[in-house]
This record gives sequence, C-alpha cells and structure tokens, in this order.
Amino acid sequence: MDFRRTLEAPDQINNRLFRRILLSSVVCGALLSLQACSNADDVTAGSEPTPVITSVTHFWPHRSSPLAQPDAYETNIDALLAQMSVEEKVGQMIQAELQSVTPDDVRNYHLGSILNGGGSYPHGVKDAPVEAWLAIADQFYLASVDQSEGRVAIPLLWGTDAVHGHNNVMGATLFPHNIGLGATRNPELVRAIAKATAREMSVIGQDWNFAPTLAVARNARWGRTYEAYAEEPELLYTYGKAVTEGLQGAIGDDWFGPGRVLATAKHWIADGGTDGGIDRGDAKISERELRDIHAQGYFGALDAGVQSVMASFSSWQGEKLHGHQYLLTDVLKQKLGFDGFIIGDWSGHEFVEGCQPDSCPQAVNAGLDLFMAPEQWRELHANTVAQVKRGEIPMARIDDAVRRILRVKFRAGLFDTVRPSERSYAGHTEWLGAEEHRKLARRAVRESLVLLKNNNGLLPLDPTAHILVAGDGAHHIGKQSGGWSLTWQGSDTTNDDFPGATSIYQGLAQQINAAGGRVQLSEGSDDSELDLSEAIPDVAIVVFGEDPYAEIEGDVTHLGYLSRADLELLRRLQARGIPVVSVFLSGRPMWVNPYLNASDAFVAAWLPGTEGAGIADVLLRNTQGDIQYDFTGKLSFSWPASVNPPPLGSDDEEYAPLFPYGFGLSYADGQELEKLSEESVIDLKNPNEN
Ligand code: BGC
Ligand code: BGC
Repeated sequence: MDFRRTLEAPDQINNRLFRRILLSSVVCGALLSLQACSNADDVTAGSEPTPVITSVTHFWPHRSSPLAQPDAYETNIDALLAQMSVEEKVGQMIQAELQSVTPDDVRNYHLGSILNGGGSYPHGVKDAPVEAWLAIADQFYLASVDQSEGRVAIPLLWGTDAVHGHNNVMGATLFPHNIGLGATRNPELVRAIAKATAREMSVIGQDWNFAPTLAVARNARWGRTYEAYAEEPELLYTYGKAVTEGLQGAIGDDWFGPGRVLATAKHWIADGGTDGGIDRGDAKISERELRDIHAQGYFGALDAGVQSVMASFSSWQGEKLHGHQYLLTDVLKQKLGFDGFIIGDWSGHEFVEGCQPDSCPQAVNAGLDLFMAPEQWRELHANTVAQVKRGEIPMARIDDAVRRILRVKFRAGLFDTVRPSERSYAGHTEWLGAEEHRKLARRAVRESLVLLKNNNGLLPLDPTAHILVAGDGAHHIGKQSGGWSLTWQGSDTTNDDFPGATSIYQGLAQQINAAGGRVQLSEGSDDSELDLSEAIPDVAIVVFGEDPYAEIEGDVTHLGYLSRADLELLRRLQARGIPVVSVFLSGRPMWVNPYLNASDAFVAAWLPGTEGAGIADVLLRNTQGDIQYDFTGKLSFSWPASVNPPPLGSDDEEYAPLFPYGFGLSYADGQELEKLSEESVIDLKNPNEN
C-alpha cells in the first residue's frame, strides 16, 4: 500500500489504523535493508503487553562496520598503546569543558578531548572573534601533541553542539531546528545543511559535532522535541545517513575531506521514548520498540560510518544507559558492529547506580569509552587511574576504549593534520554565515513551513497591500531560533547577537517595500502599542509562540499554548475586520484551537533560525501576482486536538489528532477549516489556576 498517498488524504482515515499501517511499512522499509524484518504485521509499536528482553543473537540485526579497519591504523594503534602509561590512556578517555580546563591541563593530564557546552566561548566572551577561537584551539592542540618529557603525542578533538548550524558562534548561519527539517521530508537538503555546518565549524578550528540527534520524540511534552526530526521512525534511517555523510563526508567519497567534522549519533537510545516525555527519564518500552522505532536513525548513521555515539541520560526499564552493558556493548558494539567510540553525556555517568561525578568504573565496564566530565574531570582522572590499578576496571577494557578513540582519530585524519588554524577553511571568515549557507537555510525555512489553515484562500498575500506585521516573534531572532542559539537555552539574546540574520519582519518588509506595498511593524501585543490610527491595514501577519528553551527547562506538563495576550491580539484584529495570518513559532506541536479560530490562515513555522526571509517567500506573491513558493511542508508530528493527548504508541484507541502526521495544505487545496471546539481542561483566562 502506498502510505504516501494515504498521507495526502488524512481526513479519510482512521488515525489508529493509519498509524499501524505506517509503522509496519516504514519500519520494515528501513529494516529490509538490514534483512531483519520477517513479519510486517508483527511490528506494531506498543503492542507488546510486557517488555521482554529477547536474546541479542536473534533480535537485533547482525551488522558489521562499513569501514574496513585498515591494518596500518591498527598497527599504529598497537604501537601507541604500548608506549602509553595508564595515566595517558585514562586521559584519552576524559573530556573536560572549556571553562574548566587549560592547555597545561591537557598537557599534564593527557586529555584526549575538550568540549564547549551551550553558551561557552573562549574566555567566556559571547562575541569572541574567529581569531580568538582559533588561537585557543591551537593552544589546546599544541599541548596535546607536546612530546616533551617522553609524552605520547595524540592530537586532541574539540567537540561542540552545532545542532542547527554552528549555533554557538556569533555570525553563523542558523538553520531550522530538526523538527522543521523533518517537515521538509528532504534528506538531500538535510545532507547539504550538515555539510555547510561542518564547514562553518572548520572556520573556527573545531573538529567534532555532537549531532545529529536521532531521537524519535514520542511525547511532545519533552523539551527536546524540536531536536527530533519526527515522532515516527519513517524518516530516521535516511536522515541519520544523510546528516552523518554531510558532516563526515561519504565513505569512499570525500570521507573526512576538507571542511568535514566528526559526527555523533545521540542520544543512544530512546531519549525520546521516556515515560511522560520527561527529559532524562525512563523509557518503559519493549525492546521491539527500541529496535523498530528508536534505533532506526542509528542504523542509517552506522551505515554512513558515524564515528561516535553519545549515551543517553535516560534509562531503559529503570537502568541508566550510561551503565547499560547490554545496550552499549552487546547490542551497539557487538551486534550492530559499531567500532567507533561511545561518549557519555554531560556528567551523565554520575546517575548510574553507585557512581559519582568523579568516579564511575561501572560506566567504563559497561562499555562507555569516553567520559564527558565537564568540571570534575581532574578527580575522575585520578579515581579512574586508581580503579584500573586496583583491577576494578580491566586493562583490556581500557585498551579497547583507547583503541576506539585512537581509531577514530586516525580515520578522521587527525594524525596527518596541522594545527587547527592552518587547516582548510580555518580563518576563512567568509564561510561563517556565508551567503551560500544562508540561501540554503532560507530554502530550508520555506520547505519546513506547514500550512494548517487557509480559509477563503487568504494566502498568498499581495505584496502591494498594506500589511501589518505584529506579535512578539515578528522581529526577534532569538525567538525564531529557539534553544541552542548562542546560549544554551536560547534565552538572553538580542537581535545584535545575530549579525547577518534576517528577522521574519525584515524578510517581509524587504519584499513588501520592493513591491511598493506598505508594511507596518507592531511588536507588542498590547492594544496601546497597536497603532491603527492612520489607516486600517488590509491584512495582519501575527508572529507569536513559544519562547526559547532547551533540555530540562523545556519539559511541560501539557501541550496547551496559553498566551492570553496573543489570543486577544488576534481577536482584536479580527474584530476590526482585518484578516489574520498567524505564524506560529514552536518547538513542538501544540493545542492552539482558540488561535486557529481567531486566524484566517495559520502556519506552523517551528523554529526557523536566522533566515526569516524564507517565510516571506511563501506567504507573499511576487509583484506579477504569481505564487513564489507553495507550501510543501508536511507534519512530522501529529497536531494535538487536546492539551493532553495520549502518548504515541500507548495503544490508545481514542488517539485522534486534530491534524495527523503527514498533514499539510498547499495553495491548491482550497480546504476550509470549520470552527473548532475551544473547550479544554485548562481555562485560558486563568491559565495559572490549573
Ligand atoms: C546534552 C547533549 C550535549 C551535551 C554537551 C548535554 O546536556 O544532553 O545533547 O551534547 O550536553 O553540551
Ligand atoms: C551547558 C550545556 C549542557 C548543560 C547540561 C550547560 O551548562 O552549557 O551545554 O548541555 O549544561 O546540564
């Protein structure tokens, strides 16, 4: 059955049935390439009454690394291992954070890598110039290859979260967050974005990206929903492969060529499958769901030769992934043939039973190869060395971990390269926020937009009209970019923090002015700020939605969007007879029935990033009156009909979203949306009383 055709006529189908059909065809599609799908009808999420741990031999597909392990590397690695002290080996297995480590520390503790977390910059300076990044990258690198006093020279890796473009660096191109890229259904676009991101990283001398996030977010209450491409596994195999190849280069074709960086498939596994969508929570799901839903992206990334995998903060069946020998070693390394290294997440080892931030032999023994130990790395180093010497961690395990780390460093060409500032693209500031990359991001914005309502064919708009652009998201680049945008949570930024960026208003204004129309900006939602004294606009575009958030802080208890001010703004405009186009910014699908009712047209714009002009490209006609770009985006998350929809896969027969997965209008559709029920368990007038 052609499920794509089914997607285009979503109102015809029973959602529950649809979900089952989709899962079995999709899951088997990806698995067929792995020869693991024997009985399609059998593969239905949530159908398992009790979770069963099946024998690894039969359950997970048997795969091997797509890369031959060249003898040359293994011989070099043997030679290095033979020279290294326990201290040096453990040093390779520890990653410290930029603010808590110096080049001297790298030299003295033989640290194999560093990271800069979200909102961490050289000397803590947010607008640190490219030269400052490169200078510090050189210092760390030179410390790592210092051979004085008999040290072994092993180049250091610098990891960062470039999760939607090189988002921690001022002046970079920020692409739509993954939720928007899921809506594009375009793996080639995603590959090109990854390549551009790697190139921007290379400008400042960083060589390792903590991306892609391959979560399948099953509950949109999760604050990292926007980091996921979709709620279904359908896209994950191809996207996981495409992003990995975009970052690292494809095997046999520009593999770690100029401007490529290491990729990290994260967070292994089922970070998006936790109970209640709680960040770092527990995925109480069957092993079948692990394989058929949450592992799909990893199969793609592994086929592309992803070189690192990050363990999830979360648990499976009550056991933390950081200490999960079965999932880290038996499944990922042995069964799936992963021969790169497993990195932990931000001191994630400390949550393993019996562990502390500065001590966790359990994680190493379970298969973790590299601790992300942002602050307490010094004590962790001492304790781990002592644990090896006491035999609490077998030497063979240490050698295996270090072998994996060195293998990746060889494969990435680190041993053949020069200091960061002398590498390809380093210091080439023209590539940071390059025109070519911004154009790509603008295209991604266009393709990510999902049209949910367009009554009376209000859109596309005539650019020669008088257009009011309102709402607190209209001219706010931080808000349109979301979390992981210059700061960790994406908060505390101003438009000046995003040089070269275009707000949604600016993109509209540019085209409306050029067409000879009239554009008026009103950022506040307050009536006093809405100046309609001069002339009543022909139409209003209101940009509003969620304020930025990231992990932990972004978790919510329900999916209701409850801004009274925004709703009143829409209603006031409509009461004056002004047609309203809502552009909704959000990191998740939300219950917005009252806002849909108070809008003539409604666009789910997700978190588009710095190239806000992509919105004008789709919303406005050109001066000849032609459509510039039609809507092509399709929901990769079902849109809720209530504030508390049942979690996906819960086998709830009642599950009936307002707009199903795959929904998205185009201009030709001419579909009218009837008035929706505004009843919810939450009182919009007094949201805090609920
Ligand atoms: C996040 C990871 C991220 C890491 C480093 C963690 O808190 O879960 O996704 O890569 O921090 O910033
Ligand atoms: C860092 C993030 C990290 C988080 C984990 C923050 O301080 O900037 O990168 O993911 O801590 O808790």
